[in-house]
Amino acid sequence: MIADQLLTNVAQLVTAAGAGASRGRAMRELEITTDAAIAITDGRISWCGPRRAFTGTAGVEIDAGWCAVVPGLIDPHTHAVWGGDRLADFESRASGTSYEAMLAAGGGIRHTVACTTVSDTDALLHATLQRVRRMLRAGATTIEIKSGYGFTLEHELRALSVVRALSALVPATLVPTMLFHLPPRDASERDAYMRAAVSDWMPAIADAAVAAVDVFIERDAFTVIEADALLRAARAHGLSCKAHTDQFTAIGGTQLAVSLGALSVDHLEASGPAEVSAIAASRTVGVMLPGVTLHLHMAAADGRALIDAGAAVAVGTDCNPGSSPLFSMSLAMALAVRLNGLTPAEALIGCTVNAAAALALSDRGRIAPGQRADFLVLRSADWRDLPYTLGDDAVARVFIAGTEFT
Ligand code: NIG
Ligand code: FE
Repeated sequence: MIADQLLTNVAQLVTAAGAGASRGRAMRELEITTDAAIAITDGRISWCGPRRAFTGTAGVEIDAGWCAVVPGLIDPHTHAVWGGDRLADFESRASGTSYEAMLAAGGGIRHTVACTTVSDTDALLHATLQRVRRMLRAGATTIEIKSGYGFTLEHELRALSVVRALSALVPATLVPTMLFHLPPRDASERDAYMRAAVSDWMPAIADAAVAAVDVFIERDAFTVIEADALLRAARAHGLSCKAHTDQFTAIGGTQLAVSLGALSVDHLEASGPAEVSAIAASRTVGVMLPGVTLHLHMAAADGRALIDAGAAVAVGTDCNPGSSPLFSMSLAMALAVRLNGLTPAEALIGCTVNAAAALALSDRGRIAPGQRADFLVLRSADWRDLPYTLGDDAVARVFIAGTEFT
């Protein structure tokens, strides 16, 4: 074999075993190769294994410095396009006002919608670019970004166009998702909004090349009946579905999304045994968002129960100004161990191959021949320092499609 590049002096090469999403017990199965090497050709992994077993030649050798190497992290859930801030909310919550009370009173997400709507497009693009660069530095090589801070089709499409424009400016893959975040507050406008969303918005959303449509199903957001109409319309236009479910109350959103074959159900803090069983019996990935647990000081999603029931679980940052100002997938992984009951191996799989499955991506998330050459060189020779470390930078070098991000 003649490779473009060969990564050598890899203390541990760590990846999920098997192919595709890992579920249940299989989430503990890592393949760890010591003194390993990775050959890269045309941005993909062409070979990997013990260094001594490589018999080919390579144009360039990259020295991993006897550190551990893991797949690039995949953030399956962010709301990175926003204007304004929620610093006043942060202070109010510290004095006892709840997130839900602010939302019910017309603040919270609605405040960010107002700020985002008046933001200049260039300013929005620049602010999002800075956020994405921070996420990349912390090891995210693929990042899903939702719209959802615009109440009109025009403003939602603008957010999605910002994501598309950013794709040309950063090496990471950005995956745009249309999020139906909140219905109008005025009940009299709600029916007309729903009719327009299903009939007029959906074709335009499909034309905007989004990867999926997401709906926030909650007491103060969309009902199960409304979400059913939105997600069915999305499917009718060939789009994949996702949903924010059981964040504060389990009102049936998880069961609905699973029955519609959603790629993922995200949040799950208030899920009970019925929701856990529904996810475990499906191909839908359950996404843990531990940044929300930390920032809103609320219950954590029971990742342990989900995995023990046989589900595929992933982890995301939910990076957004209101419920999770978390920019680091490395820290999300570390928090998933502390807050969601995942083992370090489950957390690594949840941040790599299972997060890829939550985005319907099968060409990344593992270090194996044919996969994109997205990987991280850690600062440590032991991969467990990645989920172990809190707040320090455990990622030394980030490679995307074989090229180092600097
Ligand atoms: O995933 N829960 C709904 N949406 C976001 C929060 C957005 C915000 O507070 O601005 C979430 O937590
Ligand atoms: Fe979210």
